[in-house]
Amino acid sequence: MSAEISIRAFVDAADDYLARHPGPGVADVRAGLAASRAQRFEPHAAMANAIVDTHLEPALASLRAGEPQLAARIETIAPHLQWITYDAYLRDQIGDGFAEGHAFASVIGGGAPLPAADYDFGLFLIAPHVLYRDRAHKAPELYAPLTGPHGWRFGPGRPLEIMPAHQPVWNEPYRPHLTKVGPTPLLCLFCWTRDVNETAVVLPADDWPALETLRIAS
Ligand SMILES: [Fe+2]
Repeated sequence: MSAEISIRAFVDAADDYLARHPGPGVADVRAGLAASRAQRFEPHAAMANAIVDTHLEPALASLRAGEPQLAARIETIAPHLQWITYDAYLRDQIGDGFAEGHAFASVIGGGAPLPAADYDFGLFLIAPHVLYRDRAHKAPELYAPLTGPHGWRFGPGRPLEIMPAHQPVWNEPYRPHLTKVGPTPLLCLFCWTRDVNETAVVLPADDWPALETLRIAS
């Protein structure tokens, strides 16, 4: 299957998934998926990533049980994507765990093969037990976690909420959010629906060491 056919099939599968998981922001995300169908495909060079090599398959093994079609589409497109371990955060603010334990790949917008104006949609993968510290940004954002459990909080110092897979998280502009990965790698659909050029900032909190050593039960 060509990169274009497989990437467009993934977009269709993601749209089908989101149609079955409605909630705040999902309509905005799906509008961008629909718009991508009219976009000309612009091939780009794939970029492999050690985090993906290690953690994508265990995440897909978990996803296959309930969402075999979506898991198959992700498995097919993964080798065609430009996987990036993001390095724009200051290392002492974001921490080594996240800096060395995640990868993402845009599929629509963000320089991906399906161009979009001020919209970025793709896949996000974080290694088990990693803490993605408190942060905030102007862009409204959807995370659709395809694996779980994992923890979230929406303000430094607030308690961690343990959430299962398949419960989308919608962050309005500047809403603080923190993510703690459980024993299974966290694989998400992600989307920034606008203001994609406004970078995120890390929000200080004094309990990161405890959250970094915390282990969420499976
Ligand atoms: Fe975010």
